[in-house]
Amino acid sequence: MRALYLFEFCDQTWIPSGARECLYEVMEACNSGLRSFNREVAEAVLEQARSHGAQTIIELGAGRAPVTSELAKMAASQGMRLVPCDLVPNVAMYQQLAKEHADRVFPIYSSVDLTQPQTELNNAVLVMAGMMHHIPLELRGRVLGTLSATNSRMCMFEPLRRTWLSMFMAALSFFPAWMLPITFVRRSGTGRRLLWCWLLPIVPFMFEWDGVTSCLRQWTVSEWQAAFRALPDEPQVEYQCGFNSLKMFWNRRSPS
Ligand SMILES: C[S@@+](CC[C@H](N)C(=O)[O-])C[C@H]1O[C@@H](n2cnc3c(N)ncnc32)[C@H](O)[C@@H]1O
Repeated sequence: MRALYLFEFCDQTWIPSGARECLYEVMEACNSGLRSFNREVAEAVLEQARSHGAQTIIELGAGRAPVTSELAKMAASQGMRLVPCDLVPNVAMYQQLAKEHADRVFPIYSSVDLTQPQTELNNAVLVMAGMMHHIPLELRGRVLGTLSATNSRMCMFEPLRRTWLSMFMAALSFFPAWMLPITFVRRSGTGRRLLWCWLLPIVPFMFEWDGVTSCLRQWTVSEWQAAFRALPDEPQVEYQCGFNSLKMFWNRRSPS
């Protein structure tokens, strides 16, 4: 099965904002509720920050900033700077997090596009959770170049793989999407969830499509290795491959 970059609804700007917000909430329900993916990412990232002596953790392509949310709740993140950012920043979510955790959450409210050179990403641990498959295949090398030009520690986590099993599990995500109005009944926005999940129930279908498409967009370890080999200074990358996940950790190569 070859990698295919088909469109995903959550990338489209023409989707009504209420339905888009629901798609991101289902992502949160799956990765922070059904699975403990975001929690595990937060723990791994804290460990990376500790072992590399970094005081700043920047969540790139953060969406609703699930990793920053998990980190902010942990006592061990006291004294650190947690910085969510995105190509399309979720300003309302960032403001809420910055208000609740004013001592440690400092969002970037302007757009941060990883396909362009970035100057704000040094001296930190950079986290990409479930975002690399949103970079078109032909631009991924450029993003690796942007990241590897910083002196930061890079941590990439993908919650899916390009396998039949992963696609089957992603297809089942129709059900948590349909359950969204119940899952988040205590949270504001119930009307929006009832509208897009039950009355005009397009969100469960869109999320199921996005899940399967996300699997098809994934690269295998050997495809990532080929992309790193094409960089002017190939870094040494640590790969950890689970049955339904991939983690990669690397630094830019120190000048010899
Ligand atoms: C599926 S969302 C994942 C959000 C979040 N990391 C999570 O796990 O819920 C992918 C995110 O990548 C962002 N993104 C896409 N292209 C980007 C780029 N070139 N630079 C920075 N972020 C980008 C999108 O705006 C989107 O919020």
